[in-house]
Amino acid sequence: MSKQFDVVVIGGGPGGYISAIRAAQLGFQVACIDEWKNAAGGPAPGGTCTNVGCIPSKALLQSSEHFEHANHHFAEHGITAKDVKMDVAKMIARKDSVVKQNNDGILYLLKKNKVTFFHGRGSFAGKAEGGYTIHVAGKTEEDITAKQVIIATGSNARALPGTPFDEVNVLSNDGALRVGAVPKKLALIGSGVIGLEMGSVWRRLGADVTILEGLPTFLGAVDEQIAKEAKKAFDKQGLKIELGVKVGEIVNGKKGVTVNYTNAKGEAVVLDADKLIVSIGRVPNTIGLNAEAVGLQLDERGAIVVDADCKTNLPGVWAVGDVVRGPMLAHKAEEEGVAVAERIAGQHGHVNFNTIPWVIYTSPEIAWVGRTEQQLKADGVAYKAGTFPFLANGRARALGDTTGMVKFLADATTDEILGVHMVGPQVSELIAEAVVAMEFRASAEDIARICHAHPSLSEATKEAALAVDKRTLNF
Ligand code: FAD
Ligand code: NAI
Repeated sequence: MSKQFDVVVIGGGPGGYISAIRAAQLGFQVACIDEWKNAAGGPAPGGTCTNVGCIPSKALLQSSEHFEHANHHFAEHGITAKDVKMDVAKMIARKDSVVKQNNDGILYLLKKNKVTFFHGRGSFAGKAEGGYTIHVAGKTEEDITAKQVIIATGSNARALPGTPFDEVNVLSNDGALRVGAVPKKLALIGSGVIGLEMGSVWRRLGADVTILEGLPTFLGAVDEQIAKEAKKAFDKQGLKIELGVKVGEIVNGKKGVTVNYTNAKGEAVVLDADKLIVSIGRVPNTIGLNAEAVGLQLDERGAIVVDADCKTNLPGVWAVGDVVRGPMLAHKAEEEGVAVAERIAGQHGHVNFNTIPWVIYTSPEIAWVGRTEQQLKADGVAYKAGTFPFLANGRARALGDTTGMVKFLADATTDEILGVHMVGPQVSELIAEAVVAMEFRASAEDIARICHAHPSLSEATKEAALAVDKRTLNF
């Protein structure tokens, strides 16, 4: 007789493990199946985010930023740092240990919440009485059943046609996070989030980095003014970003990779590099789910089709995170996971797609929530804009990092905040205030009238809100 659960979650990334914990908190018998293996073949829950995404990339960004500061910024504080060296193996080992702490933390949390964890691949074996049979293939094989199934199987890196990842020369996000030595010349295709974050890591460590982007605009989804400011900073750092290119033949040879492309002027260019990172987006992952066995509907991109509540076409089957529509972000996956668990319990879980923040962890950081100026124009919304530069912020001057600005967009009539856009130091943290404000449908004046600690970077947020009404105090 197969083990029976109320809820089975397939996938243990941020969408999966969080929905499993929330369902268990709500009193359900829950199983979570995840197939990710660590180097020793053991379980490594946390998905892309923990193993080859959010967490390891931020660990490397931190290490490389320390290196850059020691080399280029300590001197202005009067600190002499001679012969600064980077031990890449040690940096990667530290990153691996940060990942392991997170894997172990998730296993602990699942146990604490009495979620039964299965290490292996989960696939639909068919319909069972009142629910579904899920086959688990790990060290052993078994069938389990549940009335409710939450699919959170995530996404995989998209390869360029004809150029498979070998993770030696042609790297996905996985290989990009475990390069053993600083490449002399690094090429990246795609100047999106991964291209900029990973390009920054290896540039700071000394690589000559070129990013090739197909679109003619830089960071098209970001507010234009903010993207322009960020591009200026990246140019100054020596991160070469070529826009409007058409990538042609790629030769993966013994000594490295040759990328043939046509630049924006229509000229043929040959770029030789030691390594190539391909960061051109990700594809939803339903490999091995045996979706056909139960007639689960997928769209033309291979994403599971869901409604606004994450319900699939099958009764009792839900899907969340990267495997469904919407932004591929860990916090979006988590919010959907919580909402689905609550809906299964008859509650009214809700995800507000208008207030999902985005952060790009480069230096300067880029963060935003809500609509951009170009979107408001396209939507025909009358708005007022207010900006405040970090150059005029005392804390930023003390930190020695005055790049960038905070920008508010508010409704011209009601003053409701419609979007907040930031580029500058630690804006990954500053954006939280804007998310809270928008969630409570605050006006720009609400933020302008709130007392912010001095000296703090958050004063730039207050001043940008004041700027909406043209009454900044410090600029
Ligand atoms: P995933 O995290 O992909 O987890 C899916 C899990 O399901 C995996 O463990 C997989 O092994 C398992 N699985 C799949 N199929 C099966 C099966 N049949 N049976 C059992 N298990 C299965 N987002 C942010 O918000 N902030 C960031 O800073 C950030 N940085 C990123 C950096 C990089 C380099 C990358 C690649 C991504 C980054 N992301 C970031 C995106 C983030 O990682 C994803 O949005 C997030 O992981 C999606 O969560 P998920 O639960 O939907 O899927
Ligand atoms: P992306 O969608 O952010 O960027 C891909 C870029 O590649 C785009 O600019 C696109 O125009 C370009 N491109 C696509 N095909 C191309 C081609 N053939 N030639 C040249 N350029 C091409 O995707 P990316 O960087 O791979 O990241 C995937 C996702 O992972 C992100 O969209 C995001 O959801 C998530 N992520 C989030 C992070 C964060 O929150 N800080 C960090 C890293 C990833």
